[in-house]
Amino acid sequence: MVTVEAAGLILPSDVLIIVMENLSIEDLINLSYTCKFVNLLVHEFGWSLYLKHNVRSSFTLQLARRSWSSFDQVRYDVASDRSWTRAKFNARPLSHSWRIKLQPIIALSASVLLVAAGYTIYVYHITDSSSLDDGAPRVLYEGSYSFTDRREITSITFIPHDHSERTVAVGFDDGHIHRVFLPHFRQEQSNNKPLALNIERDSPLGLRIVDLVESLTCSDDMLLSLSSFGTAGLCNLSSDSPLVNAINLDCRSWSSFICMKSSTPFTAFGTTSPNPLVVHAVTPFSLSSTPFAILHSTRERSTAVYGITDAPPSAPWGSSKQVIVSGWYDGAVQVHDMRSGWRDTGVTGTPAPLRPMLTFRDPWSDEPIYSVSCGGGSSSFVAAGTARHSVVAFWDVRRPTEGWSVHAPGNDTSPVYSLILESSRVFGVTQSRPFVLDFGPGVTKETYPFLPASTQSQHDSLKLKKNGFGYCVTQYNHGRV
Ligand SMILES: *[C@@H]1O[C@H](CO)[C@@H](O)[C@H](O)[C@H]1NC(C)=O
Ligand SMILES: *[C@@H]1O[C@H](CO)[C@@H](O)[C@H](O)[C@H]1NC(C)=O
Ligand SMILES: *[C@@H]1O[C@H](CO)[C@@H](O)[C@H](O)[C@H]1NC(C)=O
Repeated sequence: MVTVEAAGLILPSDVLIIVMENLSIEDLINLSYTCKFVNLLVHEFGWSLYLKHNVRSSFTLQLARRSWSSFDQVRYDVASDRSWTRAKFNARPLSHSWRIKLQPIIALSASVLLVAAGYTIYVYHITDSSSLDDGAPRVLYEGSYSFTDRREITSITFIPHDHSERTVAVGFDDGHIHRVFLPHFRQEQSNNKPLALNIERDSPLGLRIVDLVESLTCSDDMLLSLSSFGTAGLCNLSSDSPLVNAINLDCRSWSSFICMKSSTPFTAFGTTSPNPLVVHAVTPFSLSSTPFAILHSTRERSTAVYGITDAPPSAPWGSSKQVIVSGWYDGAVQVHDMRSGWRDTGVTGTPAPLRPMLTFRDPWSDEPIYSVSCGGGSSSFVAAGTARHSVVAFWDVRRPTEGWSVHAPGNDTSPVYSLILESSRVFGVTQSRPFVLDFGPGVTKETYPFLPASTQSQHDSLKLKKNGFGYCVTQYNHGRV
């Protein structure tokens, strides 16, 4: 201690700051105890340097984190990382069960959570919280929009670069894709009645297809659409004539992903065909019609791919844009690194298929994977929404054999159709309702919508825990005996 303190007095502060660049939490804490001067330095520089090197991506914390001190942010991250390693969280349904079974999709920005189900978009707004002691940022129900012509929504995504975060691209079952502005609800509307607005479809985007729009994804200004019969369309949202071009994959198609931030911008498609996961390049002027990579499964017989995503920054394998995570019909989650040269041998055709660098499975379930998302504690988790019993499976990529699964609150016999993983929160949706699993500190009764107990919710098997805000859920370890 004495020597460090002495060093602190001798070393100029800029040298100490350079030393802090690579310190762990424990080192920084110990350093901050050495003397008042170093303590101030750690608070001023140490914690923000730590945050820079340990990014925890999150939409719903973005606004709040701007007003939290660096130390409060580190405190929040450390607490939620710890809850992840212990699989401890608060589960909450975000609404009562819908009357009919739907196939919803969720979309998330820093200020709103959207749940598109049937012809309605349900809106939850995210509050900021000026200090962590006021509790975690809240996610509160705001109201709903319904399309006047009652066409079913089959896909939705936020259009980035719209700073109001109220503009989305919406795909419908009649093949239309529209840019839709979601107007703010007027405050004077009654507090008791749910707010509801009818909106019309205008601003059609891009190509008009005849089958349903299975998937929409956005990256920078580019919007990628995929129809169920395999028409893939690329739109430039900054351009006056958005449609760039369209290609035909000629097979039943399910999922798509676009990444414009990679050195070679690309799109990935999940289909049902001998090669169900293919990657096509995006050149400045078009979407290439032939794949530059074919991503294979570990199993001989290829199946369908229902979910595609990328890895978060700070993931243990580096924040590469070349890593693709996919959910397969046979129950596997595959991680491919396009920089790897590990190819299938003895397969004819070019390009030679790439083998996955990691495969995750729940040994107790062969259910198809419907949705995948990455993030969570230490940016190290992969989550998969499965086809039955509203099960979400989690794996820590640093310990791939020690996965665990949880049934969403309510235990619906439903797929988890859509899933978004943040550093401390998981948003998902079943055929009956949206839900959240919150691993962060500061969750109270007020953090999420209050759902008065109704006869319906008893019948629904929703049960509140003793703490008064978490709901009971069934969890199991993949390694159980
Ligand atoms: C921090 O200080 C504690 C108590 O003096 C000590 O046990 C621990 O090893 C130190 N940690 C590091 C990383 O030096
Ligand atoms: C999209 O269109 C805008 C305006 O025409 C153009 O400046 C931009 O380069 C285009 N983006 C891409 C990726 O082609
Ligand atoms: C939820 O469903 C699973 C499988 O159907 C069952 O094992 C579990 O006990 C159920 N949990 C609750 C809380 O009803």
